[in-house]
Amino acid sequence: MASNTETAGHKQEYHIGYKEDTLKAFELRNVKTCLGYLLPTLEALPPTFSLLDVGCGPGSITFDLARRFPQAKIIGVDIGTEVIARNNANIPTAAPGTGIEFRAGNILEPESFLSAEEISSGFDVVHEHTTLICIPNNIEVLRQMKRLAKQDGGIVACREGDTHSQVLWPPCPESAELQERIYKLNGLDTQTGRKLVSKALEVGFPRDQITASASVLSNITRPERELYGGSMLTMLADENSQYRKAAAQFGYTEEQVEVLRKNMERFIASDDAWRLLICTEVICKLDEVGR
Ligand SMILES: C[S@@+](CC[C@H](N)C(=O)[O-])C[C@H]1O[C@@H](n2cnc3c(N)ncnc32)[C@H](O)[C@@H]1O
Repeated sequence: MASNTETAGHKQEYHIGYKEDTLKAFELRNVKTCLGYLLPTLEALPPTFSLLDVGCGPGSITFDLARRFPQAKIIGVDIGTEVIARNNANIPTAAPGTGIEFRAGNILEPESFLSAEEISSGFDVVHEHTTLICIPNNIEVLRQMKRLAKQDGGIVACREGDTHSQVLWPPCPESAELQERIYKLNGLDTQTGRKLVSKALEVGFPRDQITASASVLSNITRPERELYGGSMLTMLADENSQYRKAAAQFGYTEEQVEVLRKNMERFIASDDAWRLLICTEVICKLDEVGR
């Protein structure tokens, strides 16, 4: 089911939704697979650092951070109330005895999930992983992230997928085309990844305070392909999913939907298959004057 959330003037539909298959596919993500660019920076901080994980989803990165930095104060926030309830239920087994917390809220309205004191003191690190690409007008998200970082030396760290340049082998042009259409339909930009440095500049980080890098998020092994492809098949099977709604809106016939299904089944079954998503990364530092 896609989530449709409205909070004080910001109405937003999360186009991927929170089906268990989808959450399980996201749970492949952890510090090792996704945060190599940020880990040395975190290791250099005092162990009690504070970190806000924006759009934490099922929280596999957030939990892994808490296990690695058990003294840190780590808050995961997500607009999806059901995924936050799921994460909170998992704390005792996934990260017992750590400083992790999950809160439901909209990053565009920090007052909805942070106290006035938390906002004014700020976080050592404000982090997001593939959240900007899921929010229309995501420059405002980056502005809020900058606002929530400590103004004297805080860090804003982002890793974003460039969905437009995603590679699927064996080729699945029909899936790529529908995905592009779904993002457009939801006011989202599949080229968010390549624009990450531009966006950091636009919100006021000087170029010499931005460290940029890139890496690849991949689904290669059979279990990885089953999780990614399986979640796509679940969305295709659900007539209320954004995938099926977009397919209907663009006049796809049953035969065309069947082609999409066959593409994904072949992707899972082929030993030479892979999905590669270029991810861009930035670490932006606020200097002493909060620039
Ligand atoms: C693609 S998922 C990424 C999840 C997680 N960061 C990861 O990489 O595994 C994007 C997440 O952003 C959340 N999200 C979307 N809009 C949001 C908003 N305005 N405020 C907070 N979270 C939001 C969605 O609910 C979703 O869980």
